[in-house]
Amino acid sequence: MKFLSQLKQNDLKGKVCLVRIDLNIKDTELNENNLRVQAVLPTIKFLLKNGAKVVLFSHRGRPGKVKSKMENVKWNQEFTLKPFAKIFEKLLGQPVEFANFGATVKDSDIILAENLRFLKGEEENSEKLGKQLAMLGDIYINDAFAVSHRANASVAAITKFIPSYAGLLLEKEINNLGKVRGTTRNGRGLTRKENGKHPFVVILGGEKISDKIGLINNFINKADYFLLGGGIAINFFMAQGLPIGDSICDPNADLRGIKRGLARNKNIILPIDVAIDKRRILDIGPGAVKEFSAIIKKAKTIIWNGPMGLIEDKKFRKGSDGIVREILNSKAFTVVGGGETAGLFNGKLKMEKGKKNIFISTGGGAMLEYLSGKKLPGLEALKHKNTRT
Ligand code: 3PG
Repeated sequence: MKFLSQLKQNDLKGKVCLVRIDLNIKDTELNENNLRVQAVLPTIKFLLKNGAKVVLFSHRGRPGKVKSKMENVKWNQEFTLKPFAKIFEKLLGQPVEFANFGATVKDSDIILAENLRFLKGEEENSEKLGKQLAMLGDIYINDAFAVSHRANASVAAITKFIPSYAGLLLEKEINNLGKVRGTTRNGRGLTRKENGKHPFVVILGGEKISDKIGLINNFINKADYFLLGGGIAINFFMAQGLPIGDSICDPNADLRGIKRGLARNKNIILPIDVAIDKRRILDIGPGAVKEFSAIIKKAKTIIWNGPMGLIEDKKFRKGSDGIVREILNSKAFTVVGGGETAGLFNGKLKMEKGKKNIFISTGGGAMLEYLSGKKLPGLEALKHKNTRT
């Protein structure tokens, strides 16, 4: 894999750089301080400083699944990337041209292209589209770790037709997640000494256990503790035959497998108490916060993905806030991921200036897949032999 950080001004001056970023951000979270927006600024600034022109590519939402009124273009204004042009303009202090497909563009230093998922072939990883996109520039940069688990044309196919590099954010993601996964940025295995100090604690919450089972399996022999909350814990309660009232649980959960896993692995800790409202478990209780906090205090490495409760409601975010508090006090090397979990640290930590031992990943699904030990199509594509340089 080649890294943008290895390129110098001579390599970049006058070049048109196609930068794949991930602006898959809901309207309610669309602002200058959004983690995904902030996180790509270093790459954009690096390119501009070195005399390159920047074309930003991203997707937003899943517009293909929405019926379109237009004949040959599947799009829906709800998913447009247009509002981001203003946001980047403000953050970069220079004009950012928004480009609809098919429209002529000015010779701008920064162009933001419309949602790539409006194009046929993006989600199918079409080589034709990959080639067409590649023809728009001289260099391709993947700075979208968060979508690197998708084999999409702008993430994978494009790398076959243009010299391709990992951007500064992607490099940071794989360096930091690699420290807990046990691999270097090029995929080499780390020695046990380098590979996440112990006690090693994995904290999991959120709705679906099916998304997280791969991570649990991958760390089952490595983590000293799994602290479970949210919907994940509810599935474990169910597997044990405990009453869960009307609580929401994952219909795809393999309850028998969970039961077997629980019996075999004493490192899985379930909340000793929970907060209940209208027959639903909506948070972990104060006893669980205390027990989890005591374990976090001893930890030297922490992975956290998924809130402990229904954080949209203040009454049920006490469990998650308790974990945040303990992590902020901890010196353990910590990686946090998933949009909601990352959001719990908003304002408490700045990406660059914050505590050096805490890394907030921009990845949700991508982080889970990476930490499950899976190969991500976007990263594999950057390792192609035919990735011309
Ligand atoms: C994400 O937000 O997790 C990524 O952008 C991937 O989005 P997708 O699940 O719609 O492919």
